[in-house]
Amino acid sequence: MTPSSSPARPGVLAVVESQLSNFGLTPLRAAHELGFHVVLVSNDPDRYRVVSLAQEVFARHIDEIVRTDTNSVDAVAAALEPFRAAGRLRGVMTVTDYNIPIVAEVAARLGLPGLSPQSARTCRDKLLMRQACAAAGVAVPGFHQATSEEDALAAADRFGYPCVVKPMTESASIGVTLCRTPAEVRDAYREISGKPTDFRGQPRRPGALVEEYLIGFEVSVESVLAGGERTFLGVTDKALGSHPHFVEMGDTFPSMLSPSVREECTELARRALEAVGHDFGAAHVEVKMTEKGPFIVEVNGRMPGAEITQLIREATGIYLQREVVRLHAGQPADLTATRSGAAASRYLAARESGTLTSIDGVDLALRVPGVVDVDLEAHPGDTVRPAESNLDLLGYVVAVGDTTGDAVRRAEAALGQLTPRIEASAGTRGGGR
Ligand SMILES: Nc1ncnc2c1ncn2[C@@H]1O[C@H](COP(=O)(O)OP(=O)(O)OP(=O)(O)O)[C@@H](O)[C@H]1O
Ligand SMILES: [Mg+2]
Repeated sequence: MTPSSSPARPGVLAVVESQLSNFGLTPLRAAHELGFHVVLVSNDPDRYRVVSLAQEVFARHIDEIVRTDTNSVDAVAAALEPFRAAGRLRGVMTVTDYNIPIVAEVAARLGLPGLSPQSARTCRDKLLMRQACAAAGVAVPGFHQATSEEDALAAADRFGYPCVVKPMTESASIGVTLCRTPAEVRDAYREISGKPTDFRGQPRRPGALVEEYLIGFEVSVESVLAGGERTFLGVTDKALGSHPHFVEMGDTFPSMLSPSVREECTELARRALEAVGHDFGAAHVEVKMTEKGPFIVEVNGRMPGAEITQLIREATGIYLQREVVRLHAGQPADLTATRSGAAASRYLAARESGTLTSIDGVDLALRVPGVVDVDLEAHPGDTVRPAESNLDLLGYVVAVGDTTGDAVRRAEAALGQLTPRIEASAGTRGGGR
């Protein structure tokens, strides 16, 4: 599809792959609103058509699609070469963890703004991130890259039970597992190390990461580094689903925690970002507050995912996707808050495995005061299961309020209106959406 190469839009902004979510497509919309000729570079552009915003974004905001091997720096650079040679390429970015190091390399090669390749690799790889933080004295859980079952079991013994076993380069909580017994460690290790490639077909680092389990509540610290200065946008409270998985069941912005806890988490995030050498654009740092203080869960050199950018926009007026596009195009970002409200998202999950026949109550959810968005990502006929990663979630609601408490109560009330009807059928487990 090449609907236009309109001279009215001389500047090209290339987006190399995205998240499989509504949020994933919003930077493309933002880039188009800014007047860029938006090029989606993908190895499978049709994969995005399943998300509910796809129809609008593909019809109105994507100007051109380029198909190439997006797991290859050379292929992506070659795909962008015609735009570069024509003097039109203003920026290149990605909206998915999987392509962060590749896009950082491409941007560096083409002299475009972006994360340094070294920092991109460190943020992307949970082992390198843990090592960089530990070396800088930033609090992280005990961790070990296990390369055999015995090695994984020995690490679990050292850290104590329960422990966490997880892949090093996935996203959306895929494969992150709480293990209470040696048998569970063995199973999780086998499951993770048995897959040579990740969700997007890239080679996985061998083995699995075994970690000490951090007990506490979780937040994320959102910030942007622009013009050499880091702006902290705020702290997000995160609600998690039940064990042994760690599915994101809701986010709340700004956090309802006391200023001193928020400051402690923000300070740790700042030090972690320095430790990984984060040197450009948005960052999303996940922190667990434990009885021993805050510990780093993860450092991401990108915007927050899920619906957090929408929450930030509703609460503060800051349109993060647009400002991040600007930064990638070498323009200054406007990170000034124009209001001070609150917003919360809550996610819908299946309680049982089977075939989805309907999700009732959308009309009711929309009638809850303050609800601004109800979105269903699962459709009748889909095979569904209790969520094991964020990819299994069925949909979400977003509500706003003057205070965080108001937003949370409204989002929870809206979620309570939604009823998934599921026909249980044999052999559907493990399907996922
Ligand atoms: N060592 C740990 N102790 C306690 N909880 C953990 C630990 N490691 C991971 N988790 C939980 O699992 C979730 C997902 O882990 P992690 O962030 O490492 O994976 P991810 O796939 O990159 O997730 P996402 O892309 O959703 O941020 C974390 O947000 C946290 O709740
Ligand atoms: Mg994470």
